[in-house]
Amino acid sequence: MDNKNQRESLKSRIGFILLAAGCAIGLGNVWRFPFITGKYGGGAFVVIYLIFLIILGAPIMVMELAIGRAARHNIGKAMKALQPAGTKWHIYGHTAIAGNYLLMMFYTTVSGWILSYVFFMLRGDFAGLAPEGVGAFFGGLLGDPVTMLAWMTITVVFSFFITGIGLRDGVERVCKGMMVCLFLLMLALAVNSVFLPGAGEGIKFYLLPDFERLMAARAGEVIFAAMGQAFFTLSLGVGAIAIFGSYAEKKHSLPGESLRIIGLDTFVALMSGMIIFPACFAFGVNPDAGPGLIFVTLPNIFNQMAGGRLWGAVFFIFLSFAALTTVIAVFENIVSYWIDVYGWSRKKASVINAAAIVLLSVPCVLGFNVLSDFQPLGAHTNILDLEDFIFSTTLLPVGSLIFLLFCVSRYGWGWKNFIAEANTGKGLKFPHRARFYVTYILPLIIILVLIKGYWDIFAKG
Ligand code: PHE
Repeated sequence: MDNKNQRESLKSRIGFILLAAGCAIGLGNVWRFPFITGKYGGGAFVVIYLIFLIILGAPIMVMELAIGRAARHNIGKAMKALQPAGTKWHIYGHTAIAGNYLLMMFYTTVSGWILSYVFFMLRGDFAGLAPEGVGAFFGGLLGDPVTMLAWMTITVVFSFFITGIGLRDGVERVCKGMMVCLFLLMLALAVNSVFLPGAGEGIKFYLLPDFERLMAARAGEVIFAAMGQAFFTLSLGVGAIAIFGSYAEKKHSLPGESLRIIGLDTFVALMSGMIIFPACFAFGVNPDAGPGLIFVTLPNIFNQMAGGRLWGAVFFIFLSFAALTTVIAVFENIVSYWIDVYGWSRKKASVINAAAIVLLSVPCVLGFNVLSDFQPLGAHTNILDLEDFIFSTTLLPVGSLIFLLFCVSRYGWGWKNFIAEANTGKGLKFPHRARFYVTYILPLIIILVLIKGYWDIFAKG
C-alpha cells in the first residue's frame, strides 16, 4: 500500500473512533493506571486523574485531532504545513516522533510480559501457586533476560509485520471484535473481584478519596503523576492521536469524537482498577507493588475461579490485543514519518525500524536483571521507571503544551483556524467561550504542575 492510500479517510466513523480508542486503550489502562493508582494511594489519585481528563485531556485531544485532520500528514510534517511562514514549530514534530521511540523502548517489554503470560497461563504454570508463589514467579521472569528478550522481540516483529504489509483494514476489523470482547470480559471479572472475600477494603482504597492522606503525602508529586497518567492514557502530546485525525472525515465535529474516545478509554481504566484492587486486598498483595502489580494479582484471581486457567489465558490474550493495537498504532506513526519526511518505502521503514526498536528495547529488559544496580530515580527504581518518567511526566505534558500553544497563538496555527477545523461537521462544538480558558489558564495549569512536580521530586529529595 503506498503512502497516498494511507492518507485516505477511514471507511467508517466507528472505524475511526475504534482505531483512535485502540491507540489510546492499552497498557496505560490495564497496567499503568492500576499500579500508579496503587502507588499514589488510591481514591484521591483517581479523582484528580478524572479531573485532568476533563480539564486537560479533552481540549488537547481536540487540538491534536484538528492538527492532523487539517494537515492530513504525519506530525513530522503536519505542523510545517500549518504554521505561518518562517516559524519553527515543526521542530517539535520531529521531537514528537523521537518520543514515540522512547515510548516503545519500555512498552514492548511490558507487552512481552503480557504475551508471555498467555503462554504461562495455558501451560498451567500458576496452577496451585499461593499468592507468594505467584509473586515469586513474576520475579523469576524479571530475572531471566533471555526469556524477556524473546517475548519483547516477538512483540516487535509481529507488530511491524502488521504495519509492514499495511493491514489497516485487517487490524481495524480484528481490533473491533477484540475490543468488544475485552469490554465484556473486564466487566465480568470486575463483578467477580467485587465479590471476593475481603474485597471491601480494596474498593474503599480505590474509590474512597482520602484527601488528608494525600496532603500528608507528597501532594505535588501525586498531582504531577495524575497529570502524566491523563496524557499517557489518551496518547496525547506526541502526535499519536494526530495521525488518526489525519485519517478522519470531516463529517463529525472533533469535540464529540474526542468525548467518545475518552469515554471508552476511561471505562477500561476504571474497570481495570475494579478488577485489581479488590483482588489485592483479598489476596494480600500490596497495591504499592509497582509495575509488577497486575502480574502478581491477576493469576491469583484466576487460580480461585472455576476454569481459571482458560479464563486467564483468554483474558491475557485480550490484554495483549489492547497492548498490540497501541504498539501497531505507534509503529504506524513511526513508519509513516519515514515515508512522509524521508520518502522511504513502507517495507524499508518497517524492517529498519523493527531492528532499531528491538535494540532500543534492550536496556529496559536488562534493567530488571543484568543492569539492576543502576537505580536512576532512587532505591528500587530501574531503566523502565526512568524511561516512563521522561516520557509520561515530562515529554507528554511539554508536547501537549506545544500543541496547545500552536492552536491558540497567532504566531502558530491560531485560534480561528483551530476552532474552524475542530467544529467542522455535525455534533458537539468547541465553545467559543472557552477561548480564555484554553489560552491562558490551561497552559498555566500544565506549567505549574510540571514545576511543582519536579520541585517535589528533585529539590526536596
Ligand atoms: N495511550 C497508550 C496506552 O494507554 C499509550 C500511548 C501514549 C500511546 C502516548 C501513544 C502515545 O497504552
